[in-house]
Amino acid sequence: MTTRQAGRDLDTSKAHSARMYDYFLGGKDHFEIDKEAALVAAQAHPGIYVTARENRAFMHRATRVLAQEHGIRQWLDIGTGIPTEPNLHQVAQSVAVDARVVYADNDPLVLKYAERLMRSTTQGRTAYIEANVTDPDALMSAVEASEVLDFDQPIALSLNALMHFITDPHDPYAIIRRLLDPLPAGSALAMNHCTPDFDP
Ligand SMILES: C[S@@+](CC[C@H](N)C(=O)[O-])C[C@H]1O[C@@H](n2cnc3c(N)ncnc32)[C@H](O)[C@@H]1O
Repeated sequence: MTTRQAGRDLDTSKAHSARMYDYFLGGKDHFEIDKEAALVAAQAHPGIYVTARENRAFMHRATRVLAQEHGIRQWLDIGTGIPTEPNLHQVAQSVAVDARVVYADNDPLVLKYAERLMRSTTQGRTAYIEANVTDPDALMSAVEASEVLDFDQPIALSLNALMHFITDPHDPYAIIRRLLDPLPAGSALAMNHCTPDFDP
């Protein structure tokens, strides 16, 4: 992608982690400066390509299993990232056309790409909200205000590669409890997390 193509006042003077992630995934939404920084990171940690792709593959599998085997039709996906096809709603709607998804992220860069997250099936619905998971009360208020999710029906809370950004002072356990609290019986938590445990 060129700066001209982007054409939406993105700051292309320095690398951005979300666009580096896009490079690792083999996407097109990154610039030369992001690629250069990604290559430096990959020199230090060559497993980063596999990590990024396996992370994304987990989101696809978890979404499909929840839709196919558990009948889930609604998702709240926090820490969405730059859209990379297939996005969560595309996976869910490939199983159930009426699936509904609310996406949330706190990065203004993700907001610039958010219209791609809104291209839903006509039977389903999606919404994007800009919100910070460290303020779960405000986040859940915004989710409710979007009127996309029915809190009387099961909802999957999807936290993919997000919670490792939330350090102990924010009390990540309390945040997740707060996010799960209003979800009715039959709801689910799909979550993955970076760890150096397997790669000392
Ligand atoms: C590694 S990306 C994961 C993207 C996607 N969930 C996936 O697994 O492919 C992490 C995302 O979390 C978002 N994020 C980080 N801290 C956040 C916070 N406090 N509140 C909301 N989103 C946050 C970042 O902006 C980024 O888009």
